[in-house]
Amino acid sequence: MSLQSELETLATFSDAPAPAVTRVVYSEPDRRARDYLKSLCRNAGLSMREDAVGNIFARRHGSDPTLPAVGTGSHIDAIPNAGAYDGTVGVLGGLEAIRILQRVGMCPRRSIELVIFCAEEPTRFGIGCFGSRLLAGALDASASMQLRDKDGRTLDDWRTAAGFHGDMAQVRLPAGYYSGFVELHIEQGPLLEQAGIPLGIVTAIAAPASLRLWIEGEGGHAGAVLMPQRRDAFCAAAEIVLAEETAAKATGACDTVATAGVCDVFPGAINSIPSRVRLELDVRDIDEARRDSVLAAIDRACAEVAARRGVTVRKETINSDPPAQCDSLVVDALCLAADRRGLGFQKMVSRAYHDSLFMSRIAPTAMLFIPCRGGVSHRPDEYAAPEDIASGAQVLADAIALLADH
Ligand code: GLV
Ligand code: MN
Ligand code: MN
Repeated sequence: MSLQSELETLATFSDAPAPAVTRVVYSEPDRRARDYLKSLCRNAGLSMREDAVGNIFARRHGSDPTLPAVGTGSHIDAIPNAGAYDGTVGVLGGLEAIRILQRVGMCPRRSIELVIFCAEEPTRFGIGCFGSRLLAGALDASASMQLRDKDGRTLDDWRTAAGFHGDMAQVRLPAGYYSGFVELHIEQGPLLEQAGIPLGIVTAIAAPASLRLWIEGEGGHAGAVLMPQRRDAFCAAAEIVLAEETAAKATGACDTVATAGVCDVFPGAINSIPSRVRLELDVRDIDEARRDSVLAAIDRACAEVAARRGVTVRKETINSDPPAQCDSLVVDALCLAADRRGLGFQKMVSRAYHDSLFMSRIAPTAMLFIPCRGGVSHRPDEYAAPEDIASGAQVLADAIALLADH
């Protein structure tokens, strides 16, 4: 089976009708996708293990298995109504890179390990890069036990129902486990396509932060309660969302981005004044201090809106992570590999976050981007051309080969 048909098959494990893909961690499509990938890894002769949350590791042993391995990989979970390429290109492209090296009979000194990270997307537990955070020790086992989905069901409930029973404290990788890590991914932005350049080599990953806000006002009859008497939680939330947007635009930097992607209104009836709202806000920037200035502006807006509208606002910071700098040796290996194949590349920053944000804390890390049509991602019409995916896998293989003999 070709890499392309494997991507197509993987896309069929979904809770949404094609071309949309929805694959939330620990769901039935996630289980079927894992089984499918494990069978592909087994067919490639890789040795496999899964940890206590379901990070999957598939290893091709090097000639000196005592050396730290070179890692590659990405995620297979997909947010609701997403596409078929986010994460999956790095998983199946990573597997293809290992198979390319096997086909040419290359036996490097270091082992090469494909990682299929568990829950890069925040859909189930509200926090992104769940699996890689645990691997890197950026989230500890006891803190992860506090995670709940929106219905209050715990991580432990979910993972054990999905068949993962191991000791959470064992998930963290030992120091020096990888000598280098490279993640292949679609760009999720338009720059490569616009420039007609087939590859992006990532030198830094932007700092993400996300907040959960609970806004509490007073409900009542939509016809009977007069406007001066209202303490409408949703109107307060709307002002906070607009303050977030204003603060992000006010930095004047195109790298500052802010989104309000979740808004639950209670009780959610057309003839009832909203008494309670849950908002989830996402703020990012490659410059951490500038990102934090937007977070501070949101805090000020919450206090001002609460006082003026007579509502309460409670905040939970879900995450507030620093940016990552990629490692120059891994970047150089990617540049050399692209040059040798005669493929143009552009160095760039990643505005999206990736598991590499956390892998960079425990291993020299860089990323390889390929173009995606129109820069579109997190949508059903996400698309990457087969020739770009193939080039990505080839350059990934070449870079891994360089790193694995280093
Ligand atoms: C990853 O999916 C992100 O939201 O950047
Ligand atoms: Mn994504
Ligand atoms: Mn992704």
